[in-house]
Amino acid sequence: MQHLITFDQENKIFNLSNDKITYLLGIEEGNVLAHIYFGKKVSGYHNQFKYPRLDRGFSGNLPGSLDRTYSLDSLPQEYSSQGVGDYRILAAIIRQENGATASRFVYQGHEILAGKPKLAGLPAAYVKDDAEAQTLKIYLFDEVSQVKLELLYTIYANRAVITRSVKAINEGTQNVTLEKLASLQLDMVKPDLEVLSLPGGHVNERNVQREKVGFGIKKFASRRGTTSHQMNNFIALLEPNASEFSGEVYGFDLVYSGNHSMEVQKDPYGQYRLVAGINDENFAWMLEPTQSFQTPEVVMVYSDQGLNQMSQTYHALIHDRIVRSKFKNQERPILVNNWEATYFDFDESKLRPIVDEAKNLGIEMFVLDDGWFGHRNDDNSSLGDWYLNKGKFPDGLKGFADYVHAQGLKFGLWFEPEMISLDSDLYRAHPDYMLKVPGYQPSPARNQFVLDMGRKEVRQNIQQQMEKLLDQGFIDYIKWDMNRHLSDVYSVALAPNQQGEVLHRYVLGLYEMLEELTTKYDNILWEGCSGGGGRFDSGFAYYMPQSWTSDNTDAIARLKIQYGTSMVYPISTMTSHLSAVPNHQTGRITPFNTRGNMAMSAVFGYELNLTHLTDEEKQQVKQQVAFYKEIRPLVQFGTFIRLKSPFEQNDVAWMFVSKDQKEALLFTFNILADAQPEFTYTKLAGLLADAKYQDVESGAVYYGDELMNIGLYQPVVRQDFSSQYYHFKAL
Ligand code: DGJ
Repeated sequence: MQHLITFDQENKIFNLSNDKITYLLGIEEGNVLAHIYFGKKVSGYHNQFKYPRLDRGFSGNLPGSLDRTYSLDSLPQEYSSQGVGDYRILAAIIRQENGATASRFVYQGHEILAGKPKLAGLPAAYVKDDAEAQTLKIYLFDEVSQVKLELLYTIYANRAVITRSVKAINEGTQNVTLEKLASLQLDMVKPDLEVLSLPGGHVNERNVQREKVGFGIKKFASRRGTTSHQMNNFIALLEPNASEFSGEVYGFDLVYSGNHSMEVQKDPYGQYRLVAGINDENFAWMLEPTQSFQTPEVVMVYSDQGLNQMSQTYHALIHDRIVRSKFKNQERPILVNNWEATYFDFDESKLRPIVDEAKNLGIEMFVLDDGWFGHRNDDNSSLGDWYLNKGKFPDGLKGFADYVHAQGLKFGLWFEPEMISLDSDLYRAHPDYMLKVPGYQPSPARNQFVLDMGRKEVRQNIQQQMEKLLDQGFIDYIKWDMNRHLSDVYSVALAPNQQGEVLHRYVLGLYEMLEELTTKYDNILWEGCSGGGGRFDSGFAYYMPQSWTSDNTDAIARLKIQYGTSMVYPISTMTSHLSAVPNHQTGRITPFNTRGNMAMSAVFGYELNLTHLTDEEKQQVKQQVAFYKEIRPLVQFGTFIRLKSPFEQNDVAWMFVSKDQKEALLFTFNILADAQPEFTYTKLAGLLADAKYQDVESGAVYYGDELMNIGLYQPVVRQDFSSQYYHFKAL
């Protein structure tokens, strides 16, 4: 077996290497675990990159030592803790019964394992077999608190990926409280770094923000109980000159769906530290003797060829080794969803013509969105009552689903399982099921409240209601929505000194329910959603192979949203629908083909009233559906390459290349038209240099290197929001 991990006993250095990357760490004086290097693969290491000793004023030294040149405040480390002279952002803060929060973790031992262990109760990257990866487990121990840490590092044989997580075990006789336990700390010695993050808002998710990391601390985080639209749980650290195609880039993706934090610091000595994991705000986890706590995992990716290579590494890992659904390699059905077509104003007689038209146009699935249950005719009631709104479906939901199936379409259904309306049978029977702080009136959002998903009986109630429907076997697809963030975080099921656990227990409870449902009903295609892309993360991808990218369906707004989302997540996880104009979120009117090109750049569907289309538009839908069926494997499972960024220019372009590089699809978009336009062109990428490619529509033939070095002019169109596609096949 290939040795991916070795330990140099003499110099006390661990080396994790494959053909692409090397990660080096060592045991320094005082048994402190020190960081040495992470980056492009090196053939060996000869102990030359030693921590430069220097007497730094106001940076203290090891206890009992007269050596003033060694300080935890300047040593690059693997995992730092509070109160022992490291003044930078810390990985762990652990409170003992006497109130002390100091800990001094030192190396105790290590193991090298074949494969990759599972993380109890948490989503994580997995391995196909033990030959695919190796894992280094390093034990750190703090003698006073008797807390042991297990630092896990997994390196895959063929990927520029290292995954990391930490487990804390209370081996003492007193309770301790974890006030912070990061999944990862990475100290980097680099001349200069920038940070790329994915901030946004509802209907404006995952914008690409890039900035210099200056001295001080910068935190990218969510305090909303969930991943959030406002800040995704991914960042990249980059060399200032890194672009889409060149330069060193390091990606960090937390496989988790709750509060998160990525803290970045440039220290006084010009070194960088990243600490990533569960956000320590509103977090405190009590560990009784023998109990343990497992952090979520961070997937680190290294690229020496810019952001595209980083994204492609993430896309492959998430698709191959995080998504588990049996649908992951299956082409996803083209759907029509009734949300923007009808909102709450529907009944079966209104939906049937949409289903008929969908059949006529070649669409493959009908999705019934919000409003089918309880007595929900607007968003003020019935969350928690997952049974039929009888007035809307006289023959029952199954009767309607049978009708959809009879037209040859699959049937999909919307749920929002984590929520409760005050006007619901569930609330009338179990008012204590929702999160609520004693004495305070809870804050509504969209006039709904959040269930305490950390409680088993709460989850079971909802799960049983859902299973009653799922067991009838007429549901092919489920959209799992979440339309508000958490507030009023308090659980009646937990003791006062455990209230800091509520947020993480919520996520663990949710994961347990998702695990049970998605494995029991694995014939259902599950789609994640949170008011659009509010929970678009790789933790969710472990359970659901696709997610609704944004409630914003405007093609031009989606340029940025899908571009940003593609930084981390594979195209097969990203859903996109062609909707009506004027667009319901922006009021913008865009051409039909531009809306199609945007939505066809992901897992494709429609979200408008098909019966309202003109004959000409129906023809266009037929063509789009036929075209998408042809390019679907290329889009959903090909290599995605970003060419021109909507964050930088008026011209946007991206492309898909098949794994054998013999087929390619280029989409270009021009946002605003100009009376006197500058000439612009697009250079393709990822093709075989000396292969000949034919443009399927025009018949024109080009060499791959022609397309990649000379490129194609962007046509001048006297209209805003224009778009083209070019489909190439190698001859
Ligand atoms: C938010 C989702 O993102 C929408 O697509 C739709 O399902 C609504 N919720 C329904 O309430």
